[in-house]
Amino acid sequence: MAHLFNRNVLLGVSGGIAAYKSAELVRQLQELGATVRVIMTRGAQEFITPLTLQALSGNPVHTELLDEQAEMGMGHIELARWADLLLIAPATADLIARLSIGRADDLVSTVALATAAPLMLAPAMNQQMWKDPATTANIDTLSLRGVHIIGPAAGQQACGDVGFGRMEEPSIIAGAAANLFESNHLAGKRVVITAGPTREALDPVRYISNNSSGKMGYALAAAAVDAGAITTLVSGPVDLAPPDRIRFLSVQSAEQMLQHCIELLSECDIFIGCAAVADYRPANVEHQKIKKTENEMTLQLVRNPDIVSAVAANQHRPYTVGFAAETNNVVAYAREKMQRKDLDMMVANDVSNQAIGFNSENNAATVLWHDGEQILELASKASIARQIVHLIAHQTRKND
Ligand code: PMT
Repeated sequence: MAHLFNRNVLLGVSGGIAAYKSAELVRQLQELGATVRVIMTRGAQEFITPLTLQALSGNPVHTELLDEQAEMGMGHIELARWADLLLIAPATADLIARLSIGRADDLVSTVALATAAPLMLAPAMNQQMWKDPATTANIDTLSLRGVHIIGPAAGQQACGDVGFGRMEEPSIIAGAAANLFESNHLAGKRVVITAGPTREALDPVRYISNNSSGKMGYALAAAAVDAGAITTLVSGPVDLAPPDRIRFLSVQSAEQMLQHCIELLSECDIFIGCAAVADYRPANVEHQKIKKTENEMTLQLVRNPDIVSAVAANQHRPYTVGFAAETNNVVAYAREKMQRKDLDMMVANDVSNQAIGFNSENNAATVLWHDGEQILELASKASIARQIVHLIAHQTRKND
């Protein structure tokens, strides 16, 4: 069954009698695993209070575009970036009309313009309004733009009319939202992903490491599973819970990571090296804690093995993807690294900007392969991961 684990669903509620059903919809989305935040139009608040939806979602409800307090917390652009899906239910005839012409005159319509996430609408209105050619044309325009429309259902309406116009049932809307994220791009493929930093011990209590949080690699593992892959995550030490339905191997050092990765290669079709592997490790690991002295101290470091290069050079070479963390000449250096390490694909990651790259919620990248490249605009790491998985699936299918 489709699910919404690791998904952020932003629920937009507009002002129709069906707004009362959004309380049940929040619950259904959560039951499928989603984290839910709610935004409301003014009209929606006439039918259901923000407090109700705040209590159910467990998150503050946003109602105003120009609200100083809300913008200081999670502003409309952050909400737009946070969302993996913007689901508007109910979507009234007026909101549908405003969305069809790209208006940004309240919080819900502005977030709809500002988000790169898929948009799903559950229309709800009087049956005559639904049949009106103006609404039909607006729905056609939105559908052509890739907006997903669920419902409306037919039946008795609050106004006494009978016909199409009732909002679809919350369980059906939540199921349709979950189905959006299901794909079989990598069905049956065996994928190994490295994530997080490595720790190179100096003594029993000290080590050399870096700021990788593991978020990008874990998001890739979740995206690979959702695409149908049999996924193994080899992770350095991070504070994240492993995604569901994966095989998980925890390591500390680059040498341990290398050993696990090489062992996995006889059953691996695609390897993604997202870990920030330490390039050097201390030449000697002291067995006792190193004592401080009055003198300066010099550490001797030796080169660590290059895991992704070793994978690409192995007799069981899988389709091999690396990440290049660069602070300048990002794309040129990444392409040079891809060639030097003999990789099939390289994700060029600009880490000079604190809003993306190491230990951030969002990322942006340029994905390179031998005869092409694609820019991935700023988005959540979950969204970037899904796009990378999609590109890998596309490229590997060409090689099959
Ligand atoms: O974990 P997050 O906080 O979410 O941050 C994500 C990230 C910034 C760590 C990730 O997006 C990223 O860019 N990972 C690669 C970091 C890195 O080590 O880049 P690099 O340019 O030094 O290495 C290039 C490639 O060689 C990488 O695929 C790396 O895994 C690999 N490598 C590097 C050194 C080494 N000894 N062995 C390797 O396999």
